[in-house]
Amino acid sequence: TQVVGEPAAMAGFPEASQLPSQAGLPDPLVMLDGHRVTSKEEWLAKRRPELKALFQHYMYGQMPSPPEKIATTVARVDPNYFGGKATKKEVAIAFGPSATPEIYLLLVVPNRKEGPAPVFLGINFCGNHTVVNDPKVALPASWMPKNCPGCTDNRATDAGRGSQIQVWSIEDVIDRGYAVATFYSGDVAPDHPDFTDGIIPHYYKPGQSKPGPHDWATVAAWAWGLHRAVDYLITNPEIDKAKIAVVGHSRLGKAAIVAAAFDERIALVIPHQAGCGGTAPSRGKVGESVKRINTSFPHWFDDEFKAFNDQPDRLPFDQNGLVALVAPRPVLFTNAVDDTWANPEGQFEVLKGADSVYRFLGVEGLEADRMPETGKLIDGRLGYHIRPGKHSMGKDDWKVFLDYADRQLGKPGVS
Ligand code: GCU
Repeated sequence: TQVVGEPAAMAGFPEASQLPSQAGLPDPLVMLDGHRVTSKEEWLAKRRPELKALFQHYMYGQMPSPPEKIATTVARVDPNYFGGKATKKEVAIAFGPSATPEIYLLLVVPNRKEGPAPVFLGINFCGNHTVVNDPKVALPASWMPKNCPGCTDNRATDAGRGSQIQVWSIEDVIDRGYAVATFYSGDVAPDHPDFTDGIIPHYYKPGQSKPGPHDWATVAAWAWGLHRAVDYLITNPEIDKAKIAVVGHSRLGKAAIVAAAFDERIALVIPHQAGCGGTAPSRGKVGESVKRINTSFPHWFDDEFKAFNDQPDRLPFDQNGLVALVAPRPVLFTNAVDDTWANPEGQFEVLKGADSVYRFLGVEGLEADRMPETGKLIDGRLGYHIRPGKHSMGKDDWKVFLDYADRQLGKPGVS
């Protein structure tokens, strides 16, 4: 079942100051009015839609309904990628009101496969041209952060080509039988604190010049962009549409988990070191706080979320509720010991706080009551891993992602 474009945020939610303060992580099985969910039907028909509406109202903002149709154009096909192991395509995905920017999806599919391939989909930080060594891949034309390799005057240049190969480790993923689909975050929403470019301005109502207090902000727009990539992937016969895994690092990991929570076509999600506003508790006392993230990155969440800067305990949910929206599908949180900013311990508590929903739905949840030792993967429906080192994504992380996907989705067949 497709559950994108849920009903608009429910009218009549209280002001932040009117919500009760709750010190611990709120129980996702208890409705806003205090009623405890007693059946799967009630979870699906009432509580899930309510939780989605709450997250949109108080935190991420309301996402628009999905487009009725998308249009795709395939370019620069190369059937001899990685010495003939894979085929590359660049797919422009058009949607939305006219003149809305397109998403440029880089798709690399293994050539040796038994039937359609499972796929890892995710957004990249600095452009498709950075994740492969390929002079033909189109450079993004949109705004780019200065710290991206080869970026001049906030634009991509050829100098950035191939500079982030390890981050996506695409050849390794191909060797394990999975396809990779990725696009640049700026195709959807350039990561700066105004809403003048990207797709958001194209959805303004007449006369509107910035998002309203409950309209989608950048993280929701990125997540919605992932949904558009899914719209395309499910039409591609080379891709196993039942095995779409979404991965993202840090701010883009926040987008990954939001995307999975709001779209059941996503089979598995790995928000890597996603931290505050993604996988860490908003009530957490370690690392980044709600106030801090709203101050440094005011464009990531809706204006209403700022009302919780000094009172995160009044949020009527915490991030365990977001994980619960993914249930019963598999979720893996991956972390690094030195990345305390993302609160690895707090993230483990978030998984614990979602476990009851997995069990309620009749599947396994978090098969551990304490954090695993460093380097040991908990590979159940609710998975967890912490490695030595710092905030980054690379080859070693991909080994964990792939092991987890093999375990949860089944090893891909290689012909
Ligand atoms: C900052 C921010 C985090 C974010 C990270 C990243 O550190 O505070 O919330 O996850 O950037 O995206 O790398």
